[in-house]
Amino acid sequence: MEFDLAIRGGTVVTTTQSFVGDIGIRQGRIAALGDALGPATRDMDAKGRLVLPGGVDSHCHVEQESSMGVMCADDFYSGTVSAAFGGTTTIIPFAAQHRGQSLREVVKTYHARAEPKAVIDYAFHLIVSDPTEQVLGQELPALIRDGYTSFKVYMTYDKLKLSDAQMLDVLALARREGALVMVHAENHDMIQWLAKRLLEQGHGAPKFHAVSHARLAEKEATYRAAALAELVDVPLLIVHVSAGEAIEVIREAQGRGLRLYGETCPQYLFLTADDIDKPGLEGAKFCCSPPPRDAAAQEAVWQALKDGVFQVYSSDHAPYRFDETGKLPKGAKTTFKEMANGVPGLELRLPLLFSEGVGKKRLTLSQFVALTAENHARMYGLYPRKGTIAVGSDADLAIWDPEREVTVAASMLHDKVGYTPYEGVHLKGWPMTVISRGRVVIEDGTLHAERGSGQFLPCAKPETAKPLGRTVPELALTQRVIGQPLF
Ligand code: URP
Ligand code: ZN
Ligand code: ZN
Repeated sequence: MEFDLAIRGGTVVTTTQSFVGDIGIRQGRIAALGDALGPATRDMDAKGRLVLPGGVDSHCHVEQESSMGVMCADDFYSGTVSAAFGGTTTIIPFAAQHRGQSLREVVKTYHARAEPKAVIDYAFHLIVSDPTEQVLGQELPALIRDGYTSFKVYMTYDKLKLSDAQMLDVLALARREGALVMVHAENHDMIQWLAKRLLEQGHGAPKFHAVSHARLAEKEATYRAAALAELVDVPLLIVHVSAGEAIEVIREAQGRGLRLYGETCPQYLFLTADDIDKPGLEGAKFCCSPPPRDAAAQEAVWQALKDGVFQVYSSDHAPYRFDETGKLPKGAKTTFKEMANGVPGLELRLPLLFSEGVGKKRLTLSQFVALTAENHARMYGLYPRKGTIAVGSDADLAIWDPEREVTVAASMLHDKVGYTPYEGVHLKGWPMTVISRGRVVIEDGTLHAERGSGQFLPCAKPETAKPLGRTVPELALTQRVIGQPLF
């Protein structure tokens, strides 16, 4: 037989083309694209269906301990199964350093967690919370060379946040080594100052989470992070952007030609602060950082997706149960400061954007593919192996029924969270069959992949991390005077 699997007669869509035809798959890779391809061991009829690249979710927290020591609800089995049911075939979760830990040891731990369980392919970003001399001088450069070419830093959370000086150290290292830095940009002191006053006055309900995580805190930190990156001339990705204020900062920097990238997530398109203002502690189910804002912010986020301010749309899946193991560590007495931050989204990320973006004509199918798959692979050094449908690429595909209508219920999802912030939402369009490296992993609502069949993906140094070669005027002058670069 010419092919192991042939997908026939579907509408194949990438960021650059859309055609009705066949995909021939051999040994896990796409071997041919065209019309009436030769015989295959298995034929799959995709007439009337869309054949899209499998999603790449480049921001999700799986089997990760939070800085408060709380373990996520999803391990690498439930997390990857849930992702696969939602049409995602690659995830890039975090190997998270907590202070005092060796990054190399952290990476070993996450491999031990993922290897026996993942059902789809995965890479890792690092979280750097303790940039010691050893970490900056030895561990990070070696890890970057080994395929961990992106890392997240935090400007808030007591046990994660870096000072501006530490951020500069990390950014300068990323520049030297060709890695991409992602930043959680919120002003820590603004949040703490507001939260302290709210709690002192007895306002501990979930809705005050959104009040303390003010938009100005996000805007200020976004501007500061961008300025730090501009000073050392290195690209930077602002993750989980929630509202127009931060978007304008990114748009302005992009307008000046800087490589400042943006990411947003479903919660900023489909939830608002009103969801957090539910009776009792119910609103905790919607608490994440930054928090969902309002209808105007949602509109600004849609606009930024449409006009290219955002390159990537990720889930920021941060799965915590609505009980004492996650959202409610102190039961009914839990305040907004004590509940685990984050919302689930691995499984619904794509169906939500497909239905509300493509279905409502806010986005084209090509934009959908770029925002959910190809741009992620490009951003993190996995392209063209992942994120596209091309001869030689891994056969990672999602076959969508664009007419399929689904009313979301937590009971139909495969994560371990037990609730969904999108309960009752009506969606049109669903990934019916999901293929990872030529293996049919989801078909007819059933999982067909073995535990541990997912593979680790070392990432190349991404093109996106390349500096522009611009020096801010003061440094250019200084360097001329002292006759050498300052860093
Ligand atoms: O609330 C969120 N986003 N929790 C997950 C951790 C993070 O900051 O990404
Ligand atoms: Zn974050
Ligand atoms: Zn996150």
